[in-house]
Amino acid sequence: MSGTVITVDQVSKRFKLYSERNQSLKATVVRGKRSTYKEFWALKDVSFEIPEGSTFGLIGENGSGKSTLLKCIAKILTPDTGKVTTRGRLAALLELGSGFHQELSGRDNIYLNGSILGLTRKELDRQLDSIIAFSGIEEFIDQPVKNYSSGMYVRLGFSIAIHVEPDILLVDEILAVGDTAFQRRCMEKFAEFRASGRTVVLVSHAMGTLRDMCDNAAWLQHGELIGVGPASTIVDDYMIETAEDRIESTSEIQQSGSGQVLITDVELLDDRGAVSSLFRTGESQRIRLHYNCTKPVHTPVFGLAVQTLEGVRLWAHHTRDGGIDIPVLDGEGYIDVVVDKLMLQAGTFDVSVSVTDWARQHIYHVMHDVKRFDVQAGSIRESDGLVAQNARWDPLHRGA
Ligand SMILES: Nc1ncnc2c1ncn2[C@@H]1O[C@H](COP(=O)(O)OP(=O)(O)O)[C@@H](O)[C@H]1O
Ligand SMILES: [Mg+2]
Repeated sequence: MSGTVITVDQVSKRFKLYSERNQSLKATVVRGKRSTYKEFWALKDVSFEIPEGSTFGLIGENGSGKSTLLKCIAKILTPDTGKVTTRGRLAALLELGSGFHQELSGRDNIYLNGSILGLTRKELDRQLDSIIAFSGIEEFIDQPVKNYSSGMYVRLGFSIAIHVEPDILLVDEILAVGDTAFQRRCMEKFAEFRASGRTVVLVSHAMGTLRDMCDNAAWLQHGELIGVGPASTIVDDYMIETAEDRIESTSEIQQSGSGQVLITDVELLDDRGAVSSLFRTGESQRIRLHYNCTKPVHTPVFGLAVQTLEGVRLWAHHTRDGGIDIPVLDGEGYIDVVVDKLMLQAGTFDVSVSVTDWARQHIYHVMHDVKRFDVQAGSIRESDGLVAQNARWDPLHRGA
């Protein structure tokens, strides 16, 4: 590491909010008067530095100015006051599909995009196979990108961005649309980037990932910098402050089943019985499954599983293994599973739920990643990993 690679110096950015609808240039010109607008500061006097070779996270609620700040760093937007200084080649993955020419094929877009990012035709010829392979969309590479799904845009965009070997890589939230296997490969790439002395700036809502991956982080709120420092500290502060607001926001829920019993809601409750999305290692967690069935169903089994955002299953449990017999289910109600001491270390986790027949063969309803929660280090503090074991060290033993 040798000093600072990005300097954000007292940056403010103002947007104009026009009060009249359908404000067109023509209407303004024809009427010959100024249009009326309100000023709105999306960034207010933001300053921090990012050290070379580090991974930096940006956190904050929707609308707090994260994307605006990334665009200022990428020089797509010019701040109204202050300035941003960067050193070296910069690649940015900001909005979905930005930088792509819709009518051109994926292959042609690799050349177009790659050359904008500073690679020569020769370099691109050499990298082409590797770019296509990492994107994982070989079959579609000669189709116009306008036919691509959002996941395919992200895969191709990310693959191009890493192959131009930028000194600085800016990544907005878009990686969340990829599947978990692709996300994992992206995380590996970030780690490689860091190891080779490159700098990554990342916006994400996955607090566990940010905490693990980033050296430092900055927290924006209504365009103002609330804090900047070690990622673990900033993420913890942010989670405490915003726990109630973060209760829901996992994307589309995948679900299936025959529907004789439906899980209508899933709630995560803390020690005090309050709905929460923030827990601590060693504290209790109650997971409540609300159900509804219109006709009686005999001997159903409720189950749930907890996994990491990368899809690693950490735990699963169902009522049959738990010794709970439900002879018949009818109407509405709920069932709780109680974890007395949560043995997960700090991170972000997803809960999946199911209700099946006694044999666990017939699925009435299953919902994947229906709730997301964060865990913070609590009374049980262990150094690293996914699970806590509440282990202890015996005193040092000297001699044979
Ligand atoms: N081009 C624009 N014109 C007007 N307002 C904008 C523009 N871009 C962003 N904003 C506003 O600026 C604020 C910050 O937006 P953004 O940087 O996208 O936040 P975040 O990425 O943290 O969700 C929001 O209130 C948003 O509506
Ligand atoms: Mg944004």
